Amino acid sequence: QQYAIGVDIGGTNTKYGIVNHRGDITHSGRMSTSKYETAEAFVDALYAVFSPIIDEVGKENIKGVGIGAPNANYFTGSIEHSPNLNWKGIVPFASMISEQFGLPCSITNDANAAAVGEMMYGAARGMKDFIVITLGTGVGSGIVTGGQLIYGHDGFAGELGHTIIRPGGREHWSTGVKGTLEAYASATGITLTAREMIAESGRESLLQQYPSEAIDSKAVYECAMKGDEVAKEVYRFTGQILGEALANFVMFSSPEAIILFGGVTKAGNLIMDPVREHMEKNLLAVFKNKVALNFSELKEADAAILGASALAWEIRM
Ligand code: BGC
Ligand code: NA
Repeated sequence: QQYAIGVDIGGTNTKYGIVNHRGDITHSGRMSTSKYETAEAFVDALYAVFSPIIDEVGKENIKGVGIGAPNANYFTGSIEHSPNLNWKGIVPFASMISEQFGLPCSITNDANAAAVGEMMYGAARGMKDFIVITLGTGVGSGIVTGGQLIYGHDGFAGELGHTIIRPGGREHWSTGVKGTLEAYASATGITLTAREMIAESGRESLLQQYPSEAIDSKAVYECAMKGDEVAKEVYRFTGQILGEALANFVMFSSPEAIILFGGVTKAGNLIMDPVREHMEKNLLAVFKNKVALNFSELKEADAAILGASALAWEIRM
């Protein structure tokens, strides 16, 4: 069997592809996640997309399905109590997929999948100690130390998006916890920051052309690219919070590199400059100017698709 299916499930969109042993991706595409109210409906829709692809490639040539998803547990194959997915509770996702597809399925945390992808094919090749931070609808992380992903006692280690970085700060829309990294550094957090700044600042901004509910992270990106000062300020504020959080994470595991992945990284230096400044500023001297801070080298969601597909090859990391 020369191929594996790789799927990266995000809170808003899902990206997928067929992957060969060398890590080439074909038949790639994307679909909505958030429009499906139940996991059953989502699995049906995913199968509808894949069924013709499986026919074309030949089922006998496909080894299995590997999936990266928020709040997924590699040990149990389930997605559990996800704050950013419509389906709540404990969902036995891997068995739902393998039943529907008639193929073996493994599942892991989406950020862990991205970390595996970066290690096998991307910015972390040859590294043993690094952290991948995914910045999308939510904020996730894959922490690798000594060449091994940290899973922890029950498989959920590395939920760095839910660590508290502004005690008493913004309340998370789903968990209700105050001041977590995800509430600021995710696309959702950027949206909230922009709406607050527009409501409070009284400064002129291109963002004012939108009704408040229509301001989202994409609008912020577009306005910042046009040079809008308020939109750029949103990135400086977000970058400061993320940079401070990264300093904490560096001091926790002493990585060789931190790799930023996901939609928010499209902003490039607008976000990277303040992240770097505030990370370095808050590091203990022994860590200063030692940790490489990079964007994923792979395009779009490829790291996560590749890392997820690696599960189907039974590469356990
Ligand atoms: C979830 C993580 C996930 C991240 C990115 C967070 O809200 O708790 O498991 O990795 O979002 O999708
Ligand atoms: Na993780």
